[in-house]
Amino acid sequence: MMQKGLKGIVAAETAISHIDGTEGKLIYRGYAIGDLTSRFSFEEVAHLLWFGELPDKNQLQKLKVELIKNRELPLHIKHILDHLPKDMDLMSVIRTAISSEDVASYGWKPSVSQAIRLTSLVPTIICYWTRLLNGKPFVEASTELSHVENYLYMLTGDIPTKAHTLALETYMILTLEHGMNASTFSARVTASTESDMVSAATSAIGTMKGPLHGGAPSGVIDLLDEVRKVGSAEQVIRGKLENGEKLMGFGHRVYKTHDPRAVALKAKLLELVGEDEWLDLALEVETMAIALLEEYKPGRALYTNVEFYAAAIMKAIDLDSALFTPTFTASRMVGWTAHILEQSEDNTIYRPQSVYTGKFHDKVTINE
Ligand code: ACO
Repeated sequence: MMQKGLKGIVAAETAISHIDGTEGKLIYRGYAIGDLTSRFSFEEVAHLLWFGELPDKNQLQKLKVELIKNRELPLHIKHILDHLPKDMDLMSVIRTAISSEDVASYGWKPSVSQAIRLTSLVPTIICYWTRLLNGKPFVEASTELSHVENYLYMLTGDIPTKAHTLALETYMILTLEHGMNASTFSARVTASTESDMVSAATSAIGTMKGPLHGGAPSGVIDLLDEVRKVGSAEQVIRGKLENGEKLMGFGHRVYKTHDPRAVALKAKLLELVGEDEWLDLALEVETMAIALLEEYKPGRALYTNVEFYAAAIMKAIDLDSALFTPTFTASRMVGWTAHILEQSEDNTIYRPQSVYTGKFHDKVTINE
């Protein structure tokens, strides 16, 4: 039987992450994400996803060095970025820049070194473009700062505060990986043809760009902004639900309960930010939306997803909304590449079937 959107269809076996949508749990290689965000860095969790285990001191040092070594953009990608139309959206810019990586060094089979390279490049691409658009000089990558610190440093030119780094690092760890989501599936499909890692990552970025997947945080800010302007969460949300619109930042294909990433982010936000206009607004909108979703969509179990509190956390650390989905992309590159590596270990090309719903003609007729 055909399943629209492949809902409920198992497309692969994976040892990378496990999602329990009923219990609201997310596990990376056996560890609950809440335990990982409270104790480990972006680099350590990336090591866990790529290599299957948390690093010892030497392994961590080696990974840090590799990530730092690969931060610099090749000249030809800088030239491409310099000449792209300035009104191009940042996700398309990242897709174009990543697809311009020197594919000759990315043959089949994919490797962890390639994964590290692509992961290091994304923040640099984001920062290069953002500063170019704002007429600011490019900030060369630091050779000292951590992956997340360096990202904020290259964006602003200032060493970030501990609180800002921690907030962003929590978000990035929580979004490194998430099972067979649309963009990961895209990456695995492309990798399954024995195409290179650059092409598979490019497919994933294109998929991530869509508002139903990675594009939600900006939609959440629009929603919060509208509520702020109108002055009534109920009026705005009811209006959208009456029009049959989806509320950005709510609902999830897999979690039919609270999204554990939203829970962890909300807790971090409350811990780091305290009194904040955006946080208060987000809490008010969440409460009203959950109540109204239950009224308009009873029994669908619609709660905030990771993107809702991602928007609030990014607002709290002053990250422009144009950077939300790109930042999600910067972290998810780790998950995509881990899946590309796993796909290559036991590869079968993805080739599903379709059900034909068109006509059958007895003979060829041409309209005169
Ligand atoms: N607002 C209003 N109604 C909703 C919402 C929402 N955010 N999400 C789901 N519903 C409704 C649907 O209209 C549907 O109603 P119906 O039964 O009357 O037809 C019912 O709830 C079930 O929803 P589906 O769309 O079937 O759920 P699905 O699993 O296909 O969709 C999705 C999940 C795409 C995330 C959806 O909830 C949505 O569009 N949310 C808003 C966009 C968003 O926040 N995306 C970010 C997702 S998280 C991420 O990508 C990291």
